[in-house]
Amino acid sequence: MAEFHVSVRKVEAPDIPQVIDLMKNVYRELRGILKNEYLDAITAETTSPENLRGALEKADQIILAAESERIIDVISGRILPGGLAQIWWFGVQKDRRRKGVGSKLLEEFTSIAEKEGVHKIFLTTCPELEEAINLYRRFGFAEEGYLRDHQFHQDIKIYSRFLKI
Ligand SMILES: CC(C)(COP(=O)(O)OP(=O)(O)OC[C@H]1O[C@@H](n2cnc3c(N)ncnc32)[C@H](O)[C@@H]1OP(=O)(O)O)[C@@H](O)C(=O)NCCC(=O)NCCS
Repeated sequence: MAEFHVSVRKVEAPDIPQVIDLMKNVYRELRGILKNEYLDAITAETTSPENLRGALEKADQIILAAESERIIDVISGRILPGGLAQIWWFGVQKDRRRKGVGSKLLEEFTSIAEKEGVHKIFLTTCPELEEAINLYRRFGFAEEGYLRDHQFHQDIKIYSRFLKI
């Protein structure tokens, strides 16, 4: 586990600038790895303060942060009708990776989803994001779909995990 103190909590409106910083840093390092136009589109959508503020106001959203001296990891997702949850953003600050922080947030997300009666969690990712795919597999996620040459020519993978409910 991490050699630094990490606390997990819900993201709140005053956290938005820190969350956007983290997201933009993660997207910056993915430049040259993912298709640029795809990155531009998801960066614009997910780092919009209005979109984030809107998401925080909705009751079906699960938006969590791991905080050390600042926010170093965010996972966000939502609960959909019919026992489904979707993770739509997940990333850890680069210099705090491989210390169990991502696992800790994914565990917390899963436990909240389970309590809400979710039987399945799904997400989309990209084949290039091997670290993330390793983590998802380790958490019992399996590939359920492969969308070739998808939006902005980016290949997309669908991963999901069935919860024991
Ligand atoms: C994916 C990510 C969130 C993982 O966060 P993390 O805090 O480093 O993850 P953990 O330390 O909890 O790692 C858990 C497991 O994931 C896998 N993993 C994580 N980083 C890995 C790497 N660089 N290489 C191989 N496997 C890796 C390993 O199985 C690891 O367990 P281990 O360290 O005992 O071998 C982080 O790498 C990240 O932010 N990546 C860039 C953004 C991204 O790809 N987000 C997902 C978009 S779908």
